[in-house]
Amino acid sequence: MEGLSEAINSRDILQHRSQTGRYPEFIETNMNSETFLQEILGMVNDFCRGLDDQPPAYSYIPLRTDEERIRVMKSRLFNELRAADLFGTWLKTTPEFEVKAAMAESAHEEMEHADLLSKRIRELGSDPFDYRPLPAQVAMFNAIEGLSDTCQRVAGFSLAGEAVATYLTQKSLQAESVPEWIKQPYRRITEDEEGHGSMPQVILKRYATTDERQEAARRAVAMRLVLFREYLSSLDRWAMGKDRW
Ligand SMILES: [Fe+2]
Ligand SMILES: [Fe+2]
Repeated sequence: MEGLSEAINSRDILQHRSQTGRYPEFIETNMNSETFLQEILGMVNDFCRGLDDQPPAYSYIPLRTDEERIRVMKSRLFNELRAADLFGTWLKTTPEFEVKAAMAESAHEEMEHADLLSKRIRELGSDPFDYRPLPAQVAMFNAIEGLSDTCQRVAGFSLAGEAVATYLTQKSLQAESVPEWIKQPYRRITEDEEGHGSMPQVILKRYATTDERQEAARRAVAMRLVLFREYLSSLDRWAMGKDRW
């Protein structure tokens, strides 16, 4: 690796490769985390595609009454608040400076989202905070809260969770069956999410560079998707008045 920390250009890289038969370590590492990133993005994309045929209540698309829509909004308000909690809780145990900074910002942003949704619910004449979280929803957040490694947290929560949320929110913004009073706050929310959408990927590319960290993060994504599915099904039943949860 001598000399590579100074001027790195493509000639150096090719020379290194012809002499040693390998790319310099920093490139192999990045290729490795890039491949890993593509793999977990694939898991998340498959999950999203799987929701296309029957958009869940979470997307507001199948809902027919404002009562049902307010239920879903309250449930999603709880998610915003819980997300703020998680980011805040993780600050102290996140040593990587730029990740800590991003989490602090996210905690604030999630509170702004919560503010938007709670105001909207109140305007509709309902109490935003009388919501009792669904058991599957509580389980999902508690499980995520237990993730201890930065890569697990970023992959399982930020990358997997927010990607699914943004995917479904975009669908609702395009759907004719979703009224304007719902679309309004979500336009702002999606703008925020899209604004820093690539941050989890940058973090994972930088830090998910060992087999151990990748495997832990992969499992966190799988766990998140399993639990997200349960939450979505539960929300379908409860919001549309079919069951208690
Ligand atoms: Fe949010
Ligand atoms: Fe967010």
